[in-house]
Amino acid sequence: MNRLVTYNDVAMPAFIYGTAWKKDQTARLVELAVDSGFTAIDTANQLIHYQEALVGEALLALAKKGVKRESLFLQTKFTSVSGQDHRTPYDQSADLPTQVQQSFESSLKHLHTDYLDSYVLHGPHSRWGLSQADWDMWAAMEEYYQAGTTKMIGISNVQANQLQELCEKVSVKPMVVQNRCYAVMGWDKEVREICKAQGIIYQGFSLLTANQDVLRDPQVWEIAKRVGANPFQVIFRFALQIGMLPLTGTTNEQHMKDDLAVLTQFELSQDDLQTIETLAL
Ligand SMILES: NC(=O)c1ccc[n+]([C@@H]2O[C@H](COP(=O)([O-])OP(=O)(O)OC[C@H]3O[C@@H](n4cnc5c(N)ncnc54)[C@H](OP(=O)(O)O)[C@@H]3O)[C@@H](O)[C@H]2O)c1
Repeated sequence: MNRLVTYNDVAMPAFIYGTAWKKDQTARLVELAVDSGFTAIDTANQLIHYQEALVGEALLALAKKGVKRESLFLQTKFTSVSGQDHRTPYDQSADLPTQVQQSFESSLKHLHTDYLDSYVLHGPHSRWGLSQADWDMWAAMEEYYQAGTTKMIGISNVQANQLQELCEKVSVKPMVVQNRCYAVMGWDKEVREICKAQGIIYQGFSLLTANQDVLRDPQVWEIAKRVGANPFQVIFRFALQIGMLPLTGTTNEQHMKDDLAVLTQFELSQDDLQTIETLAL
């Protein structure tokens, strides 16, 4: 369960360390996360929520300690103007392909690398349908994939109908989807099912923060007690066992270890999975 393989045959770690909202603690926490055992890092070229350049600072410090670029999985995102403040990593008046190009090049600089493992479109322009802007951004990202400067491309914050349409119409369909995962939505079941059918890796975020009621549920506590884990770990293990790749944004060293321990420490039964999957429905 330590690696997942995309439909284009690229392996990726089964747990991702997310760097949103870490501000000036980003470099310290990324270094700590890698020292604790994480090998996959998620960021975005979007200064409102992420400090991509500080992720890069941590990578330099890690390289000095002998951590090789190839041993890490680096994922970042293109965020369009609507998701940015005035500090866009591109010329806002340029056309979309140019914006993607400038953002991508700036990400490589921030991360001190000449390739990415995964490049993700932070989200379609609107919650409903796909627009010309989405096709243009995707086509620009496809070029980086075709050139080999990113090993995979993906999309985030995507609705089921948008994902279906994207998969049907583009030349390179996404290898990864990254969505907020609500238990009340069957843990994003509709989108997960499309991912499964298309061979796309589903990355789930806010598994803990979006599901506080689940974390308080006596049934989850009972399962946790039985398997010798805590409820946070049970949710991450549940995510792994139903085929999801979880992200954690923990800032705590012990929690980093606890989160990674779910890869090997215990297993949930089919009944446990069924209970958790339907808990909030
Ligand atoms: N694509 C997007 O639009 C998007 C949006 C949001 C997030 N993301 C990505 O997803 C990442 C994760 O975000 P998230 O929303 O899932 O997480 P999060 O909100 O950053 O943090 C998870 C919360 O869970 C707690 N936690 C984690 N492990 C724990 C454990 N073992 N025991 C107790 N508490 C634990 C953390 O507290 P402690 O710090 O105390 O451990 C934190 O409060 C982000 O950093 C970002 O990379 C992407």
